[in-house]
Amino acid sequence: MAQESKTGKPPLWQLANQHGMGFGTAINAHAISNDEYRAIVERECDVVVAENAMKFGPLRPQRETWNWEPADRLADFARKNNKRMRGHTLVWHAMNPKWLLEGDFERQEVIDIMREHIFKTVERYKDVIYCWDVVNEAVERTDSSMYHDTYWNKKIGPEHISMAHRYAHEADPKCKLIHNDWVHEGEGWDSDKLCRFVQELQDDNVPVHGVGLQYHFGITEPPVMEKLLNTYDRFASLGLEVHITELDVFIDYPVTDEKLEQQAILYKNVAKAAASHKAVTEFLVWGHTDASHHYQRDKTRGDACLWDEDYNPKPAYYAVADAWS
Ligand code: XIL
Repeated sequence: MAQESKTGKPPLWQLANQHGMGFGTAINAHAISNDEYRAIVERECDVVVAENAMKFGPLRPQRETWNWEPADRLADFARKNNKRMRGHTLVWHAMNPKWLLEGDFERQEVIDIMREHIFKTVERYKDVIYCWDVVNEAVERTDSSMYHDTYWNKKIGPEHISMAHRYAHEADPKCKLIHNDWVHEGEGWDSDKLCRFVQELQDDNVPVHGVGLQYHFGITEPPVMEKLLNTYDRFASLGLEVHITELDVFIDYPVTDEKLEQQAILYKNVAKAAASHKAVTEFLVWGHTDASHHYQRDKTRGDACLWDEDYNPKPAYYAVADAWS
């Protein structure tokens, strides 16, 4: 295939597998119809996740209208191409529909809406989705409080998190339930609060099997390697799997060769750290190509992916391949 002749490297999923991890990307319901976009996913990935199609708002634009088609299309892509699929995400502070946010719902009604949403969605994809990011970004990141004060938190309280996990577990008892959250691991930041958050769930016997670490980095604020490894140790000691779920590394424009090199080094270091730890079982980037990454809507920064806007591999792609070879 085209990618093979371009790089001469084995697919990234094969290289990742040698280190006990899968490799994958977030796939977009529009972009997947592009041949070059799709060819990279088919060749390089053994795991995929829907970028937006399985979020609450896209799935349920009106109270009585479910919009399954884009999500079904991505699930079918995974089925046909034998890819594992991660589910993203059942409950989130963003991308909720107007009818929900502006509706005049009592606490119990919101619980019922959340429960119905989780059951319908988890059951529909249980043959193809092996793990779900249950509540996305529930930990507060701007101050010392534990819970992000989202719509769900305001309406239901922090117990919406344990409820969501219990409903998802009931809907598909063999599904792995992941707590996916923003982490940075740069200077002056560590994942202590996230560890405490997950530990509290475990103390309450809430089904939780792993953590998803998003990893949205910029080249000027690289993570500290010891912190990454410490974090993996801490989650491993809680008996949890670690998925790297959303890696991307933005560049402040203009892009230069030097910045692309810095980007490659950051990708390589993270790829090496993850590969060196047996708790890390999945390694996903949040979109594989600059052609369709959501940062490209921004005029000041972007070009965060392993493949460029013309679907050519960037220095960062070679760096990741080298890290795992
Ligand atoms: C982003 C999508 O990539 C965008 O297209 C959308 O406009 C907003 O959401 N953390 C997450 C992802 O968990 O779901 C977000 O995805 C990026 C940040």
